[in-house]
Amino acid sequence: QPPSTSQPAAEIGVIGGSGFYSFLDDIDEIEVDTPYGPPSDAVSVGELAGRRVAFVPRHGRDHRFPPHKIPYRANLWALRSLGVRQVLAPSAVGSLTPELGPGALAIPDQLVDRTYGRPQTYYDDDAAIHLSFADPYCPSGRQVALASAREAQWSPADGGTLVVIEGPRFSTRAESQWYAAQGWTLVGMTGHPEAALARELALCYTPLCLVTDLDAGIEEGEGVTMEEVLRVFGENVARLRSLVADVIKALPAERSCPCGQALDGMKLPIVLP
Ligand code: ADE
Repeated sequence: QPPSTSQPAAEIGVIGGSGFYSFLDDIDEIEVDTPYGPPSDAVSVGELAGRRVAFVPRHGRDHRFPPHKIPYRANLWALRSLGVRQVLAPSAVGSLTPELGPGALAIPDQLVDRTYGRPQTYYDDDAAIHLSFADPYCPSGRQVALASAREAQWSPADGGTLVVIEGPRFSTRAESQWYAAQGWTLVGMTGHPEAALARELALCYTPLCLVTDLDAGIEEGEGVTMEEVLRVFGENVARLRSLVADVIKALPAERSCPCGQALDGMKLPIVLP
């Protein structure tokens, strides 16, 4: 359970892969429970550059949750209950354009949901809550991420559309060519409902997408394999971890973006933590 001090346990949250444990000092492992069950794993809370940070391993520490079974609602709820208001979301994605190859970094500005059957709202009963989601990501978090990446000489793709597929299989060539023909630039499996749930909790949410592969419709070869995704992620994870640390340092202490007002004027059927 979170310590019952008046200070929140953390202000910034990171939902990331297994390469992200070691970047926090003085880690406390907090077993959080939520109305949506436990998060993917215990939340690590610690300090980085004077900021209090909470980390959830998206797939669980032993990678036991495939993308369609990740407890997205519990993960975001747990972070908010610890005091988190700004969330950074590093993830591996495929590229739908030859200009973005393996090892590239992208900070998309749009999302297309092609998932199905995932619980994607906290507002299920006793009210009809319809939040604006025209711009799914935090505008100021995106700018901080872009500036930090440029500073680290990792020229980021600024903008683009991430299509989130249900998985867990990769796309067929025809699916992939269809996504690319729409003008969508990145494909992943975990970006939704994570971003939408963050908005439902009035959290800032900033995606940091590491391209691990050219998706099947773009490349000539055998198509994407998990082996390739894991290898390229492993080759770049130190760089990504260091970027996440830089972004944490540069995030504003006080939010001036619209994300915190997402729920203003709404009569919510539940009490947020
Ligand atoms: N994650 C990493 N690469 C991917 C791809 N090509 N499609 C979907 N999710 C991915």
